[in-house]
Amino acid sequence: MEQFIIKGGVPLHGEVSIGGAKNAALGILAAAIMTDETVTIENVPNVRDTRVLLQAIEGIGAKVKFVSNNTIEINGGSICDVIVDYEYIRKIRASYYLLGALLGKYNKSQVALPGGCNIGSRPIDQHLKGFRALGATVDISHGMINTSAEQLVGGHIYFDVVSVGATINVMMAACLAEGNTILENAAKEPHIVDVANFLNSMGANIKGAGTDIIRIKGVEKLHGTTYSIIPDQIEAGTFMCAAAATAGDVLIKNIIPKHLESLTAKLIEIGCTVEEFDDAIRVVGTENLQSTNVKTLPYPGFPTDMQPQMAAVLSIAKGSSMIIESIFENRFKYVDEIVRMGAKIKVEGNTAYVEGVEKLTGAQMSSPDLRAGAALVIAALSAEGISQIDEIEYIQRGYEDFEIKLQDLGAIIERIDSEKEALKTKLKIG
Ligand code: UD1
Repeated sequence: MEQFIIKGGVPLHGEVSIGGAKNAALGILAAAIMTDETVTIENVPNVRDTRVLLQAIEGIGAKVKFVSNNTIEINGGSICDVIVDYEYIRKIRASYYLLGALLGKYNKSQVALPGGCNIGSRPIDQHLKGFRALGATVDISHGMINTSAEQLVGGHIYFDVVSVGATINVMMAACLAEGNTILENAAKEPHIVDVANFLNSMGANIKGAGTDIIRIKGVEKLHGTTYSIIPDQIEAGTFMCAAAATAGDVLIKNIIPKHLESLTAKLIEIGCTVEEFDDAIRVVGTENLQSTNVKTLPYPGFPTDMQPQMAAVLSIAKGSSMIIESIFENRFKYVDEIVRMGAKIKVEGNTAYVEGVEKLTGAQMSSPDLRAGAALVIAALSAEGISQIDEIEYIQRGYEDFEIKLQDLGAIIERIDSEKEALKTKLKIG
């Protein structure tokens, strides 16, 4: 099992370039099978989640070719199956995007029902409500979701909750439905816009993505395209928090600063200097961070995917901070780990109360999920002494070359895969 060994207390300095957005890539890779022509997708982050989804796509018979590390060609012309097994869903929930993509293209799909996950129970009722509104029959049996329709027809859907996944899934299916579809109370995240732009580049007719009403005019078929995925706002935000927590000075390049406004505002509020450029942000931290309150909300609010990393920063900010998690019910699992580093955080319901401490001290920890794992890395980078983080495969689900990018900024971090190596590394850096 791979682990990170980190010696903290080194301010990060330098430049880091951000990769393609994982969550946009998951929607786009699934949508790429909706044409029989070849689709070329650039700036795909080469992380565990995208690799597993590509295996699921190959599993149904599509052709997948890595043109380079971050450019992928997909051809859905050879699809022979519309069944996606539990094996994939268990590893990557977003395999459920194949439900909407296959339903749109073939009028049927069969995908294993995802279970709960580390951050909450995560129902998919809104996805299914959307498919039904497009005229599909949807039933769940033997752990599989089965959808089918004679012909999908456009519909008017009002989502009861703002859901990124449901918006993308139903938007994909509606592209090939007969007539017009209106999605109301749609999610507005940057990756919704990216998936819509991608589908439009394949010949779809989607308007309004990025607002809460999306209008889709069904088309008969989609065609091949070449498309480059937007930068990952969460990877960027993670490096911004790492710069803040280590009192560093980091230029985060190849990003869309607008996507990070809610985080930028919070970092300025707690005393960091943040400079925005056309496609970069510079964050200069301070030894004298101040407290603040944060509430996670759908975009353009503060992202739930940045909540753990921000908590790591606030754990060493002067005063009391309050963090309200309003999207997922179980997203404070990292608290027990970070408390082992000396942080003072108490969780009551969906709120974490943080009493800033002067410094954290290195400890052995286990990564509970993807973003929580990134938060532990940030905490360890800021801490005095050595930390050892287990279960880093969660972190590798969403960060490409994480430790290499951090090393380039001066961080002392090593990825090791045995206890023997852990001991050797600790002796070397200790
Ligand atoms: C996506 C992101 C994830 C991010 C989340 C919120 C991907 C692959 N993942 O997850 O990183 O943390 O958005 O920004 O893009 N809900 C329902 N019924 C549904 C669907 C959702 O009640 O049918 C609820 C969820 O339990 C949650 C809220 O709606 O409380 C938002 O979930 P949603 O936006 O769907 O998250 P995901 O798409 O799963």
